[in-house]
Amino acid sequence: MEKWILKLPNVITIDGPVASGKSSVGLVLAKELGYIFLDTGIMYRAVTWAAIDQKIEISNEEAISNLAQQIDIEIKPPTKFDGRINDVFVDKVDVTWKLREPEVNENVSQVSRYPLVRKALTEQQREFGRMGKIVMAGRDIGTIVMPNAELKIFLKASIEERALRRYNEELKRGKQINIENVIRNVEMRDKIDSNREIAPLISAKDAVIIKTDGKDVLRVVDEILSILEN
Ligand code: DC
Repeated sequence: MEKWILKLPNVITIDGPVASGKSSVGLVLAKELGYIFLDTGIMYRAVTWAAIDQKIEISNEEAISNLAQQIDIEIKPPTKFDGRINDVFVDKVDVTWKLREPEVNENVSQVSRYPLVRKALTEQQREFGRMGKIVMAGRDIGTIVMPNAELKIFLKASIEERALRRYNEELKRGKQINIENVIRNVEMRDKIDSNREIAPLISAKDAVIIKTDGKDVLRVVDEILSILEN
């Protein structure tokens, strides 16, 4: 992938629904450009995990909003080669894989609806964004978190393809799961993420939309690099 790009954007945003390829594409793209990669979904998962760990009811908006303002989320380069993109610590506890547990998957969209949770995490995400030379992935990065980003990508893929990707990822990690449950969870999260009042999942007006069905990660990264060349 030898490319000549004259002026690189300081911030590249990648938004899209569950398993549309944001993290895999974002990570490779960031490596190609020598940029940092930040998957902002990790932060919503961290708050959700902390709420479950502290036995706070997911419907308790006030307690979860307070939690989001108080907990210390650290995202660091990976120290283990077990497929993780980062090491993630919540109040110094390594929660990297705990964030992928079914209980977190089932509740994270609900937690992400709470305005004060979004406010706390959006502020932290903007701090990362200000560092520059960064690829940031999420649901509202191009619309709300970094609306002035120079390049915005919105990834799409069919529900069947996305559910299959999630299913295969879980199998790879040795988890026995039911494909029907994966489809149900992906559909439920898409619905909540797209219909919430604050920062819903929508593509920014100036985003480039890329469909990822049937494409491997390198092909999508190549498409993004070609946008940068033109
Ligand atoms: O990308 P993911 O599946 O790990 O994200 C988990 C949840 O976090 C997702 O269902 C919605 C929420 N999220 C969000 O609301 N805004 C973001 N920028 C990133 C994730």
